Amino acid sequence: MGRKKIMIVLGSPRKKGNSAILAKQVAAGAKAGGAGVETFYLHDMKIKPCNACDVCRKKKDIDCVLDDDMQKLYPKLRSADAIVIASPIYWFTVSAQTKLFMDRWYALGGEEGYELAGKRFGIVLTYADADPFISGAVNALRTFQDAFNFIGAKIVGMVYGSAWKAGEIRRNEALMAEAYELGKKLAAEA
Ligand SMILES: Cc1cc2nc3c(=O)[nH]c(=O)nc-3n(C[C@H](O)[C@H](O)[C@H](O)COP(=O)(O)O)c2cc1C
Repeated sequence: MGRKKIMIVLGSPRKKGNSAILAKQVAAGAKAGGAGVETFYLHDMKIKPCNACDVCRKKKDIDCVLDDDMQKLYPKLRSADAIVIASPIYWFTVSAQTKLFMDRWYALGGEEGYELAGKRFGIVLTYADADPFISGAVNALRTFQDAFNFIGAKIVGMVYGSAWKAGEIRRNEALMAEAYELGKKLAAEA
């Protein structure tokens, strides 16, 4: 019980872009549902690629040896009840910003499994091609399905739609409403 903590992660460089607009709708729905929301804009954060040193698996007292902005995000990931990942489709999958962030979750894993196990996730994707297969959105959706299945986390909802220029997604009223509802769902009891 209690107020849910929702972490929203923006993976597009466009702060006012389509995925960010949908993410804002999710946030509005979550707030209406009584949740606390914190949003992070990956493009402004320094997140290095995982260097596969495996120190994270040997040392219990640190999350990751790389001293960058992931150090701020690890505790946020841990304390969130639900996490929303909003990404544009770039080259037929998630943006590089989103992928760097996800690779670094490796540090939250170990013999006992992943610390993200049991978390609830929401996915937001935007892409230019009208067809989710041709655009590559399906690749990204499949990546999330496989990743969360592996981690033992739950996908509560996936909101995805086509738009090209920043802001165009607003015209898709049904999708905007869907994003709001996802926020409400994430704010509710599991
Ligand atoms: C570098 C780059 C790569 C892109 N690759 C794809 C793609 O593979 N498939 C697609 O449908 N749209 C692609 N797009 C279009 C974006 O996905 C689309 O404009 C989306 O709405 C952007 O979301 P945003 O406004 O949140 O950044 C690409 C755009 C850029 C800038």
